[in-house]
Amino acid sequence: MSPRLAPAAARALLGALLALPLGACEGGDGGDAGGTGSALLDAVQAAEYRTWARPPGAYEMPLTPARSPHGDFVDIYINDVVAQALAAETGTLTAWPEGSIIVKDGWGDAEGTDLRFLAIMEKRANGWYWEEFVGDLAEPEFSGVPDVCVDCHVSGEDFVRAFGLP
Ligand code: HEC
Repeated sequence: MSPRLAPAAARALLGALLALPLGACEGGDGGDAGGTGSALLDAVQAAEYRTWARPPGAYEMPLTPARSPHGDFVDIYINDVVAQALAAETGTLTAWPEGSIIVKDGWGDAEGTDLRFLAIMEKRANGWYWEEFVGDLAEPEFSGVPDVCVDCHVSGEDFVRAFGLP
């Protein structure tokens, strides 16, 4: 009940708050316990991507049967940059804006318990940046601008296969 406790408690809370973002930035080299080896994956996990919106159309339903090498059933999530862009007037966009992020969970089973693949696309100033994890989330199997991703995705509008520009 002593008022002297308050500053100590406040310092402890501040310390805890400061520790969180610092920890989240250290994933890049893969050496840190708790990090995934990918700053991008750490960021989308911290942003709770599984609470994000889903794209309209064929992949709006959870655990949609996939038409790709990304697992048998997929969940696709879009960040708010993509969601806002989707609300643009028809025909006004020729590309997804910088800051767009799309995350895809690829499951080996229809119940969504066996995560086989996790793929991320992020629109950066110089175009899409790609990452895919296979089997576990320790290190991306593919990252950067891999030909294997681009060559198949080139058939989508601005490289996105599951849904089109508004
Ligand atoms: C042989 C074709 C093919 C290859 C290779 C491929 N993809 Fe895909 N990808 C698809 C298709 C088709 C979809 C639509 C969803 C589905 O059916 O899984 C998709 C969906 C995605 C999505 C959700 C956004 C979107 O475009 O629909 C991401 C993210 C993604 N792929 C990342 C990757 C990454 C990273 C690689 C390279 C490691 C890759 N893909 C390689 C065919 C491919």
